[in-house]
Amino acid sequence: MEYKSIAIDGPSGAGKSTMAKRLATALGYLYVDTGAIYRTLGLFALKRGVDPGCEREVLPLLPQAKIKMAYGEDGFQHMYLGGEDVTDEIRRPEVSTAASKISAIPEVRDFLLGMQRDMAKKNNVIMDGRDIGTVVLPKADAKIFLMATPEARAQRRYAELLERGMQVEYENVFHDILERDARDSGRSAAPLKRAEDAVLVDTTEHSLEESFQILLRTVQERLR
Ligand code: DC
Repeated sequence: MEYKSIAIDGPSGAGKSTMAKRLATALGYLYVDTGAIYRTLGLFALKRGVDPGCEREVLPLLPQAKIKMAYGEDGFQHMYLGGEDVTDEIRRPEVSTAASKISAIPEVRDFLLGMQRDMAKKNNVIMDGRDIGTVVLPKADAKIFLMATPEARAQRRYAELLERGMQVEYENVFHDILERDARDSGRSAAPLKRAEDAVLVDTTEHSLEESFQILLRTVQERLR
């Protein structure tokens, strides 16, 4: 059976996961959050006391990384590291930075590629990340590049972290967003960039609901 795939790429905080989850529910597709996979490896490096930005230290870790993803009864993607459910732990801000650093290493990207493509071979998927439309699923049936200004993205991320009960300052969140943008777009291995055939959607001036309606229309047109 041929499965359909939808790729959503864009910078941190553009609303990819919120939009992808809602689209997945609306279309009956499986939502795959690829950032969570990089975050789990980033967490592993931190737990081992390894600098996630140092290729020489990270490479020997790869064969030891026991990373699994599974869908719970709640229907959500859970991440496991050595059998332990780390789904919540990988959302910590220091893990965001570790994931961004470790993901710039080409061998890390190769190591995690099969896991992502496998999901699309066995399911109708909506996958979000940085290189889904360009590298992971270049033949995706629909591709979206979701963006918003760094200020709008920092505001949303700040509100989200507060809601999760984390103690953070807006200035730090904004600074992290700029730093991650520079790293995710500036790396040589599969940098964040819009695929030529991706539809650009800027959510800066749109509410969640408006953005969702735009995306749903766009995807439905592409799938037709
Ligand atoms: O989507 P996210 O913020 O959870 O991703 C965390 C980091 O992982 C992000 O800063 C860059 C990296 N990443 C990547 O390089 N490629 C992907 N497909 C997904 C995430």
